[in-house]
Amino acid sequence: MNGRPAVELRDIVKTYGRVVALNGVSMSVRNGEVMCLLGDNGAGKSTLIKVLSGVVEATSGKVLLHGREVRFDSPRDAQRHGIATVHQHLAVQPLMSVTRNFFLGREPTVGWGPLKRLDMATARRVAVEQMGNMGIDVRDADQAVGTLSGGERQCVAISRAVYFGAEVLILDEPTAALGVRQAGIVLRYVAQARAQGLAVIFITHNVHHAYPVADAFTILRRGTSYGTFQKAEVSREEVLAMMSGTEELDALEQELEEFAREDGAAAVPGASALPPEGQGRDG
Ligand SMILES: Nc1ncnc2c1ncn2[C@@H]1O[C@H](COP(=O)(O)OP(=O)(O)O)[C@@H](O)[C@H]1O
Ligand SMILES: [Mg+2]
Repeated sequence: MNGRPAVELRDIVKTYGRVVALNGVSMSVRNGEVMCLLGDNGAGKSTLIKVLSGVVEATSGKVLLHGREVRFDSPRDAQRHGIATVHQHLAVQPLMSVTRNFFLGREPTVGWGPLKRLDMATARRVAVEQMGNMGIDVRDADQAVGTLSGGERQCVAISRAVYFGAEVLILDEPTAALGVRQAGIVLRYVAQARAQGLAVIFITHNVHHAYPVADAFTILRRGTSYGTFQKAEVSREEVLAMMSGTEELDALEQELEEFAREDGAAAVPGASALPPEGQGRDG
């Protein structure tokens, strides 16, 4: 480790044929920092993460770890460099035990040669211990993952990445399918990973989930970075506006109002049938 960002993307361009998915995006994340990557559908979030995790190669631009340029030729290669990605749709087998899911083929072994076998006792102990460290009480290490809540399942994947030495943790929409309470379980753990010095990239389109844990925000819009903002510089509402192009919606609304005014009330059929203020909005 040196004083440089744990990971830095410089001017990343990614095209698919004539589709420009990323048009020169730069972003850097330090150890002990949670960077929220925000953007609407199609903004380029997944593509950026695929570049970072070795799934696709950038058309141009650089990836640097602690200031040193790297090139990943596969997801495994990125993993070897300490980059762990927890995908939104987890490759979790619901019938597999918590322990098996935690190790996914990397179980500790005892003995050697033909006598080498999995040390399942140690594996169970480690899995329960690690989950316990993040406040999740796994009563039975052989319990099927499918019996855990959605938030707890995400945490199996996150704690696994941390346990196996990830330095950069990429979470792709970890809270998208979760309710408030379940999201809370995950967010608490993200804060813990940050406290342990990991550099966390938290991808979401839900500003309300991102805001409490974020140190900074990078906002993507149509393949272009709208900039990186420290939390102290922006309010939740400002982040929301920059992300979703609310200014554009405001402008559209104004335009429509003017349009209606020019045409006169008579030109808006049923205008008088609108419910008076304060009514008809009980949804
Ligand atoms: N394999 C691909 N081939 C062609 N176009 C793609 C491919 N992957 C992504 N894109 C396009 O790149 C843009 C960004 O996509 P993506 O990174 O998935 O956005 P996000 O994750 O923010 O929703 C979209 O316009 C998408 O259609
Ligand atoms: Mg995506």
